[in-house]
Amino acid sequence: MSRFREDPDPRFWRLNRSIDFDRQLAPYDVAQSRAHAAALNRIGVIADDEVGRLDEALAGIEKELSGGNFEFLPADEDIHMAIERRLAELIGPLAGKLHTGRSRNDQVATDICMAVMDHCEQTRQLIYGVMSGLLRLARGHQDWAMPGYTHLQRAQPVYVGHHLLAYFWMLSRDWQRFEAARQSAAVMPLGSGALAGVNWKIDRHAVAAELGFDDITRNSLDATSNRDFVLDYLSAAAICATHLSRLGSELVIWSSTEFGFARIAEPFTSGSSIMPQKQNPDSAELLRAKAPRIIGDFTTLLGVMHALPLTYGKDMQEDKEPFFDAVETIEASLDMTRGILEGVEFDRERLQAASADEMLAATEVADLLVRRGVPFREAHGIVGDLVRQCVAQGRDLSQLTPEELAQYSPDLDEEYFEVLKQGSWLESKLSEGGTSSTSLKIQLGQADGHLAFLAG
Ligand code: ARG
Repeated sequence: MSRFREDPDPRFWRLNRSIDFDRQLAPYDVAQSRAHAAALNRIGVIADDEVGRLDEALAGIEKELSGGNFEFLPADEDIHMAIERRLAELIGPLAGKLHTGRSRNDQVATDICMAVMDHCEQTRQLIYGVMSGLLRLARGHQDWAMPGYTHLQRAQPVYVGHHLLAYFWMLSRDWQRFEAARQSAAVMPLGSGALAGVNWKIDRHAVAAELGFDDITRNSLDATSNRDFVLDYLSAAAICATHLSRLGSELVIWSSTEFGFARIAEPFTSGSSIMPQKQNPDSAELLRAKAPRIIGDFTTLLGVMHALPLTYGKDMQEDKEPFFDAVETIEASLDMTRGILEGVEFDRERLQAASADEMLAATEVADLLVRRGVPFREAHGIVGDLVRQCVAQGRDLSQLTPEELAQYSPDLDEEYFEVLKQGSWLESKLSEGGTSSTSLKIQLGQADGHLAFLAG
C-alpha cells in the first residue's frame, strides 16, 4: 500500500497531526472534492454512474461532519486524509479515483483560499454593522461638544459626532482591506498538483467558477507555495483589531470617574469580587488587548513563510492555527464592538464642562491676530504669554482686562472676547472634514452615501 513499513513515531505524530485544527476546513474540502469529481467526469476519468456515487457519498460525509457525527480516528492525519478514509469506507476502491489529478498540496491551498474568501465576506459584514452603529451614534450626538485631544492633553473642542466618525472612516478602510484580501484569495490553485501541474486536461476555469473563484493561478509552483492571501487576511485583521483597540482604549478612559464622559451598558461591564462600587469596562479593555494577539498571528505566519524554498513544505501547515485564531478573535471583537455601541451613553454635561475650558480657544485667539496681519509664529508667542499669565494667576482668558490685553498686542480688542464665547471656536472649523456643524452635516451625508455604496 505504501513505501512505509513502520508507523510514525508518536513523538512525531503529536506535532504532525493537524486534524484538531484543520477540521475547520471540512466544508470547503467536501465542496472542492465534489467539484473535482465533476471535472474528472467531464473528461471521462470517472464514469457517470461513478460520479453519482462519489457525489452522494461526499454529501453524506458533509452531513456527518456538520452534524457532529463524523468519527475522527487517531490515525487520521489531517482533514483531507480523514475524508478520504471515510469515503473509502462508504464506497470502497472508487474513493481512490477522486485523488486523480490532485495532490494534497493544491487541495489544501484551495481549501484555505475558500476559507479566506468566506471569512473576508463575514468580516466585512461585521465591519459594516459597526460602521452603521457609529454613524447612528454620530448622528445622535452631532451638536454635543467634547474636548479633542492630542497627547491626551485637551487641545481643541470637537463635536462628539465628529469624533465618532473618525472611527467610521478607519473601519471603512478595513472593509476595503478585507475586500482586497478576498480578491487575493479568489485565484484558484487547484489543478497545480503537487507542484508541476497534473497529467489531465481538467477544465480549471469551470471548477473555479463552480467554487466561487474569480480566476485560476498562472504558475503551479507559485500556486502550491503561495500563502499571501492568508497574510493579506491577517494583515487586514491586525490593522482592524488595532483600530478597535484605540476605540476600546478611549472607552476605558471616557468611562473612568475622572473623565465621566461615557457609560458602557451593564451587560458589557463586570463588577469586582471585593469592591462593590465598581463597574469595570472589561469589554473595552479586551478590545484593547486582542490586537497584539492578532498581530502575533500575522507575524507568526510571516515567520513561517520567510526564506522557505519553493514549493510546498510542511512548515506551511502552520498557516492554519494563526488564521483560525485571528478569524475567531476579529469576528468576536467586531461583534462585541457593535453591542457596546448600541448601549453606550454619553454625559452631555460632563462633556460640555470639559470642552468649555477656555484654554481650548488659544488657537482661535492666535488666528484672530493672524487675521489682523500678525505672522502666525509671532501670534503663537503672544498667546503663549497670555496663557502663562492666566495659569500663574489662576484666571480664565476672558478675565483679562482690555488694559492688560493691550500690553500684549494692540490687536487684542473687543473681538478677543467674542472669540472666547463658547461654541464659536467649534463653528469656526469650516474646512472640509472639520468639526463645524456645517462640515459635520456634509460628513454625515458622505458617511450615509458610503454605507449605501458598501451595501452595493
Ligand atoms: N495537512 C497538510 C497541510 O496543511 C496538508 C498538505 C500535506 N501535503 C504534503 N505534501 N504532506 O499543509
